[in-house]
Amino acid sequence: MSKRTLGVIVGSNRRESINRRLAKALTRLVDDRFDWRWIRIDDLPMYNQDLEPDRPEVVRRFTAEVASVPALLFVTPEHNRSIPAVLKNAIDWGSKPSDKQVWRGRVAAITGTSFGAIGTAVGQQHLRQILAILSMTVMGGEAYISFKPDPVDDDGNFQDDSKRAFCQAYMNQFADLVDRLA
Ligand code: FNR
Repeated sequence: MSKRTLGVIVGSNRRESINRRLAKALTRLVDDRFDWRWIRIDDLPMYNQDLEPDRPEVVRRFTAEVASVPALLFVTPEHNRSIPAVLKNAIDWGSKPSDKQVWRGRVAAITGTSFGAIGTAVGQQHLRQILAILSMTVMGGEAYISFKPDPVDDDGNFQDDSKRAFCQAYMNQFADLVDRLA
C-alpha cells in the first residue's frame, strides 16, 4: 500500500532554523509510515483583506498544499511567548474566507524547540488555542524540546537516547491518531 503524505509547517523563516533541523529529525522517525510535504510559509505576503478578490499565486499554492494533506505537524519557535508572526500570517491566510478555510477537520500535532528552559511551551499553548478555534483536531500531550544541547546531529538523527525515545513516542502517537482519524 502506498504511503499517505502529511504536511510539515516550520514556524520560522530563518535559514539555519533550529526548528527546521528538529522537524527533519522528527519526520524521519515515522518515514516508514508517511511521506512528508514541506509547506513553505516564508514567501507569503502579509495578510491583507484587500488582496482577497485576487489572491496572490503564492497564497493559492499555500492553501492548496494545506488542503492536499489530512494532517500537519507544526514545529515552531516561540517569539515573545507566542508564535512567530510568519506562522500567524500563514494561519490567517488559510483561515479565510471562512466557508473555504483550509484548516478545518485536519489533524495537527505541535512541537518546537528553543534555547530557553521551557522550550517553546507558551508559544505552543497559543498555537494549540488558535488551531482549536479553526476546528483542527489537535493532538493531546506535550513536547517541549530544549536545544541546549542540540538534540540532532548533522545527519538528522537524535544524538541522545532518551530524547529520541521521547520524540519517537510522540511521533508514533501522531501517526496512530492520523491512521484512526484522518
Ligand atoms: C526569540 N526567542 C525566544 N525564545 C524563547 O524560548 N522564548 C521566546 O519568547 C523568545 N522570543 C523571541 C523573540 C524574537 C523576536 C526572536 C527573534 C527570538 C529566541 C528563539 O528561540 C531563537 O531565535 C530560535 O533560534 C528561533 O528558532 P528558529 O528560528 O532558529 O527555528
